[in-house]
Amino acid sequence: MNMATRVPFISATIPSPNQSHKYSCWVSSSSLRLHTLHSSSTSNSSLSLLSLSSRRIKINHTRLIRTSVVAMAAESSKSTVLVTGAGGRTGQIVYKKLKERPDEYVARGLVRTEESKQKIGAADDVFVGDIRDAESFVPAIQGIDALIILTSAVPQMKPGFDPTTGQRPEFYFEDGLYPEQVDWIGQKNQIDAAKAAGVKQIVLVGSMGGTQLDNPLNSLGNGNILVWKRKAEQYLADSGIPYTIIRAGGLQDKEGGVRELLVGKDDELLQTETRTIARPDVAEVCIQALNFEEAKFKAFDLASKPEGKGSPTKDFKALFSQITTRF
Ligand SMILES: NC(=O)c1ccc[n+]([C@@H]2O[C@H](COP(=O)([O-])OP(=O)(O)OC[C@H]3O[C@@H](n4cnc5c(N)ncnc54)[C@H](OP(=O)(O)O)[C@@H]3O)[C@@H](O)[C@H]2O)c1
Repeated sequence: MNMATRVPFISATIPSPNQSHKYSCWVSSSSLRLHTLHSSSTSNSSLSLLSLSSRRIKINHTRLIRTSVVAMAAESSKSTVLVTGAGGRTGQIVYKKLKERPDEYVARGLVRTEESKQKIGAADDVFVGDIRDAESFVPAIQGIDALIILTSAVPQMKPGFDPTTGQRPEFYFEDGLYPEQVDWIGQKNQIDAAKAAGVKQIVLVGSMGGTQLDNPLNSLGNGNILVWKRKAEQYLADSGIPYTIIRAGGLQDKEGGVRELLVGKDDELLQTETRTIARPDVAEVCIQALNFEEAKFKAFDLASKPEGKGSPTKDFKALFSQITTRF
């Protein structure tokens, strides 16, 4: 009689019914089958051999499963974070920072093109999709804990600009890539998909100037970029998902972590001398926002003091605690 016994060993080591279902290990051991066949002679010695062998397998597998459960528990304590616009100038810093903290995060990136994927290392955790097409980024968003949105319409400078003339350059948006499509529909698509996937927090990077309809950024390429960004921010704030909306000042490609960060509201910082911020600082605030309750259900302006003035910000809990505005 061939008894290919499937032996459940580990139910006793699994604490909850869910985990039991997830991690159950059924051992079909050839050595066990051999001894079982042998036991057809029903000799006591072969039966005891069977139980001895069975016990050994049981111990080994119990150890193995215990180790796996511990490893899985450690893995599940990490937060899986998707950053979109991961090929962009701030997005790629966020993606890199997440990858540098493997004990805390499982990083994912969403980029629009294969070229962008190559640019940031082409790892398997980088997905290619277009935020205007909700279906295209479903695989990237499935199973994540948090989403950091760093996608944006990007104005292009019209060719033929001559800086020696003293005139301002002109800008345009490519067809289909206007702020309405990217900063409104595209962000809305991401928020909807994240909500459907049960995401626990969304960090959205927007821009200062949203309270000023006549802000020059709105006339750039006739895109009304701040208007559409603001509409997406409102949609996120109304979504019910814990959110952090960061309205950055003028972004600079400078070193991060060396300036005192400033938070504000209603574009008040725009009336001061301190209205710029380094991209790495914005990236760090995006990630730190995932760590503190004080950052949730908050929207704020973000800038920094010049380097050398004030003390570089290290205490992000204190920074987020200063914010009183939900929108
Ligand atoms: N520039 C400033 O001074 C300033 C000031 C305040 C706030 N901000 C805001 O801060 C954020 C980050 O700015 P940044 O300059 O670091 O960004 P960026 O370099 O312009 O990156 C934007 C990213 O969005 C991606 N993207 C655009 N359309 C997409 C689509 N349909 N599907 C998927 N991805 C798409 C782009 O991908 P591709 O590379 O493939 O095009 C790009 O990687 C933006 O929201 C920006 O508006 C900027």
